Amino acid sequence: SVLEMEVEQIKKGNYDHFMQKEIHEQPHSLTTTMRGRLRANDVVLGGLKDHLKTIRHSRRIIFIGCGTSYNAALAARPFMEELSGIPVTLELASDLLDRQGVMYREDTAVFVSQSGETADTLLALEYALEHGALCVGITNTVGSTLARKTHCGVHINAGCEIGVASTKAYTSQIVVMVMMALAIGADKISTQSKREAIINSLPDLPNKVSEVLKLDNEMKDLAESLIEVQSLLVFGRGYNYATALEGALKVKEVALTHSEGMLAGEMKHGPLALVDETLPIIVIATRDACFSKQQSVIQQLHARKGRLIVMCSNGDASSVCPSESCRVIEVPQVADCLQPVINIVPLQLLAYHLTVLRGYDVDQPRNLAKSVTTQ
Ligand code: G6P
Repeated sequence: SVLEMEVEQIKKGNYDHFMQKEIHEQPHSLTTTMRGRLRANDVVLGGLKDHLKTIRHSRRIIFIGCGTSYNAALAARPFMEELSGIPVTLELASDLLDRQGVMYREDTAVFVSQSGETADTLLALEYALEHGALCVGITNTVGSTLARKTHCGVHINAGCEIGVASTKAYTSQIVVMVMMALAIGADKISTQSKREAIINSLPDLPNKVSEVLKLDNEMKDLAESLIEVQSLLVFGRGYNYATALEGALKVKEVALTHSEGMLAGEMKHGPLALVDETLPIIVIATRDACFSKQQSVIQQLHARKGRLIVMCSNGDASSVCPSESCRVIEVPQVADCLQPVINIVPLQLLAYHLTVLRGYDVDQPRNLAKSVTTQ
């Protein structure tokens, strides 16, 4: 009805679409995610504090989710492993169920779900409860089934997300899992100075996100140059393997364009065969321990005349780009474990603009649902 349409427009404020609003809201949603949880040199997660000891003694931490929520866990895994010293594994909920994967009483199973109602994730939760694992929920939805049925958990407090393609929930999920790693690692001496440096840098993260959002017009421009492409690859590794998967997922979900995120370390084992002058490839090469490896990936793609788009840290454009034809996305540098929060933003903007330019439905992509409550 006309009234419903007007209410929709009011909820969107000055934006054309919910996805666009939610992308631009991220400095604010991240602020609410962290609110009340940061202390000088410490992180306090009320819903976890009585369980930290059990988590520290678990034999394994298993992250379980679907879609974007799985990708968020993938982004947080390296840091969780580094700070906890516990092996961290990942499961797509449906695959865990298909395999009836091994699970122990000594495991901590962390369920990640924006809606808290995804059927596969909830079935995996039932499965973990039956096996006696400690079950932790990370969700955006207070009172959801996930929040009620887990033993403990953390709300991401990103605010209601309406666009089917998840954006602000993704960045808030990562920050919650980083905070969780910081809380679990509080008893370790060896990582103490890194831990404190990250805690003290967290309050500035929303400002860095505001900074990267200024690339909006540049990403629209890039989208214009990609409007005709059939396919788009995204190469990442380390902390930003997840960025590659999530960036590609956004492009396929909303822009209805074939896109694959790939582990750059696997490039030689297949994907290199696809490289030619026409296929655009985004390479994520921001500064971290994997930087020099990504530089050589760029060289190899360039040697095969790949159509390159490089994401790098501010100031690195000239040293990272092998030619004039290579496009660059320069982003602010933050702590390595937080860099995925920054790096996904230009790719969210790119997917958004590509969708609008192609004339597709941004908020309700073809065949998809916000919450998949059936198996
Ligand atoms: C659906 C949505 C995705 C979402 C996934 C997991 O596929 O379209 O955007 O990432 O479900 O949803 P959840 O609510 O469990 O995070």
